[in-house]
Amino acid sequence: MQPVLNYLKQNQKRFLAEFGDYLRFASVSAQPEHKKDLLACAEWLVAHGRKIGLDARLCPTAGHPIVIAKTPRKKNSRRPHFMVYGHYDVQPPEPFELWKTPPFEPRIAGRNIFARGATDNKGQNFAHLKAVEAYLQTGTPLPCDVTFVLEGEEEVGSANLSKFLKSHRAELDCEAVVISDTGMPAPDHPALTYALRGIIAFEIILRGPARDLHSGIFGGAVENPAMALAQLLAKVRDDQGHVKIPGFYDGVAPLSKYEREQIKRYPLKDAQLKKLLGAPQLFGERGFTPTEQRSSRPTFEINGLTSGYQGEGSKTIVPAWARAKITCRLVPNQRPAHVRKIVCAWLKKNCPPTVRLEITAGHGAEAYLVPPTSAPAQAALRALEKAFGARPVLMREGGSIPIVNEFKKILGADSLLLGIGLPDDNAHSPNEKFSLDCFEQGQRMSVYLWQELSATDGHR
Ligand code: BES
Ligand code: ZN
Repeated sequence: MQPVLNYLKQNQKRFLAEFGDYLRFASVSAQPEHKKDLLACAEWLVAHGRKIGLDARLCPTAGHPIVIAKTPRKKNSRRPHFMVYGHYDVQPPEPFELWKTPPFEPRIAGRNIFARGATDNKGQNFAHLKAVEAYLQTGTPLPCDVTFVLEGEEEVGSANLSKFLKSHRAELDCEAVVISDTGMPAPDHPALTYALRGIIAFEIILRGPARDLHSGIFGGAVENPAMALAQLLAKVRDDQGHVKIPGFYDGVAPLSKYEREQIKRYPLKDAQLKKLLGAPQLFGERGFTPTEQRSSRPTFEINGLTSGYQGEGSKTIVPAWARAKITCRLVPNQRPAHVRKIVCAWLKKNCPPTVRLEITAGHGAEAYLVPPTSAPAQAALRALEKAFGARPVLMREGGSIPIVNEFKKILGADSLLLGIGLPDDNAHSPNEKFSLDCFEQGQRMSVYLWQELSATDGHR
């Protein structure tokens, strides 16, 4: 292993320059005006993959392209095969004014690199690319075949990836999928995540008068859609954080005593969390701790709320419409289609006749939970411990990676969630960053991982 580890040490400066190039693409999948930036980013990845010795190609889809990059292999290779999944698309960078430096002009400060996508997810998948590069460029045989699948639509629900998995089933058939797109609680606490929340997304719009009206002339005699929306949404949750839509909690798997004990050992304490979030207080569903609330309980969140005049100064109108972007996080045993159905039915039932309700459905995905007892999970734990020099924690996380369920259904493969993002990385927030220490340790983790994973029994 030494030549591989030495190679990593000797090349960090170049890696950083390349990482900077990767971060400069404004690969914002949610915004159609960035379509060409996603394509350019995918093309850069293909070229970069080839440069480091991978067999890489661009696969167009109905949306943004998928990049496949494979370690060179024999035709009928009998070596174990693992997939590394990651995404090169990023969340919208807005609000721009809160960024200390522009989101697509990477800046290094101390041991951090700042840019949109730094931690979520370019830095995390780049660490794996660099680890595999180190094997290939030092002529050190890899004990397994590795295929990178880097997609450009994770942040918008991975709508085109399932079809791709189905049509490339043989090529992507693998022992397990390695994903570094989650977090770890602290720099000295590596983690294996064994559960993710699911999600449903939708938008609602309440339409009132045919156009914005003078609020002096007409206000008082016509419904104000912004008020109607505020009142409707206010009914969704009580002041103890409990969602009041009947059936919302149907099927929610209770936390076992064992899990609650594990969660208590999670190193990021509530006081630290409160400080990190900058909120006056923590708030969540009564009867659960903050760690439980954000990893293992379902939620109803307003992600965006828009109506009326947003410009400077005052404008006296009754707005014609009010709109909300909503996502619910789901936990094991909740069925996305069922939750969507009851939430929509409840909204329709509770919407007053003074406005017209329109609902547009968005993406959806089930929660994911695989107990970390399998041989690959145990191998991953050993790799984490070797790289970070500390015992990894086992945790459930609240974010969603929609495609993990499809990996299981279509390819029969479990996902190993080996996140190297930190809680203060500002994923989806202004001033997103990635720790250079995590970047380096992540590369080492990947180096060990291929050894540990390939040494376990039970391969094809
Ligand atoms: N990397 C995140 C998912 C994540 C982050 C999982 C932290 C666990 C801990 C991913 O890029 C993401 O943000 N996913 C979206 C999915 C959605 C748009 C379908 C999410 O969770 O909001
Ligand atoms: Zn994300």
